[in-house]
Formats: sequence, structure tokens, C-alpha cells
Amino acid sequence: MLNDVEEILLSAEDIENRIKELAEKISSDYKGKELVLISVLKGSMFFTADLIRHISIPVILDFIAISSYGEATETSGVARIIKDLEENIENRHILIVEDIVDTGLTLGYLMRTLKLKNPASIKVCTLLDKPVRRILEVPIDYKGFEIEDKFVVGYGLDFLGKYRHMHFICTLKPDIIGIEGRTA
Ligand code: PRP
Repeated sequence: MLNDVEEILLSAEDIENRIKELAEKISSDYKGKELVLISVLKGSMFFTADLIRHISIPVILDFIAISSYGEATETSGVARIIKDLEENIENRHILIVEDIVDTGLTLGYLMRTLKLKNPASIKVCTLLDKPVRRILEVPIDYKGFEIEDKFVVGYGLDFLGKYRHMHFICTLKPDIIGIEGRTA
């Protein structure tokens, strides 16, 4: 697996240090409130697990999983929920936790959908932001790192389902991802 790595962009230490800062800010911003973290499966599970353990206020954890309708999502943002929340989020403060915001279509769909359930507030925390790829503008309240337009894996992010469990975030060698490369 390590042989497939081209360049490490963010080390485990970089990620850990930034997560501590984000958790501190979140804990301070939500002081006196009960926070519901919504982790968007599967990519954000590692980020969520580390983030939540550094949050020092009461917090409830829930998960949601989205499936896109194949190629249509690239332009339309059409998606569907394949694993819904278990918590009732009405009148509660929710924070969506993502591993990456790329086109913004997934987050746009999620926000539209979750707003219909009338939460008290809805904010977004993402580990990675790739603004150059944005199709739909989405608000990001807490951001770990902004990255350039490179296809990255590790720490939750996959290529064909693999590489999620790597401790760092990296690019893969061109012969692994194919000659055309990947941007998202
Ligand atoms: C990734 C990521 C975000 C979404 C971002 O999920 O976790 O949910 O893509 O892309 P967008 O901004 O272009 O919509 P993916 O569909 O790869 O599923 P996974 O988390 O299960 O890997």
C-alpha cells in the first residue's frame, strides 16, 4: 500500500493538531448548548472519531449515508439517503461532519434535506475543502485544510474503496489511478 503513495500532503501529526484546534473552537462556540454531530458515511468516520474525542461539551453522535445517482450527480446534485438519522433533530443544534467538500453537491443536498426537519441551527465542519472544484456554493463553518485540485486518499478518503485506513492524506502514483488521473 505504501508503495502506491506518490506524495504525503498532510501527515498524521498535521491532521491531529488541526483537529484539536477545530474541536476547541467548536467546544467554545457551542458552550451551553447540546450539539448533535452528524457524520456523513463513509469518508468522515475517521475524522469524526478523532474530532468528537477532543470536544469538551456534551455531544450526541449520529450518522447519515448518501448515495448519488451515478453520473447525474456531477451536474444535478441528485442524491438519496441510504442510511437515515436515528436522532430527531428538530430544534437541535446540528453540525454536519464531512471529510471533504468538493463540488459541494453532496453537502447542498444534505443541507436542503436536513433543514426540512427544522433544526435549531445547522453548521458544517469539513476536514478538507477543495474550492477550485465547487459547482454549488455551500457554507463551511469549520475547515481543517484547503487543498488544491489533486485526487487525495487516506484518513477516510478512498480510491475504489481502498486506502481509507491510512493515517495520512496523500496522492497516489499515476499508474495506480490510471493515466487520466482523477480530480475528485
Ligand atoms: C465524498 C465525501 C463527500 C462528497 C464530497 O463522499 O465524503 O460526502 O464525496 O463531494 P462533492 O462535494 O463533490 O459532493 P463519497 O461519495 O466519495 O462517499 P464515501 O464518503 O462513502 O467515500
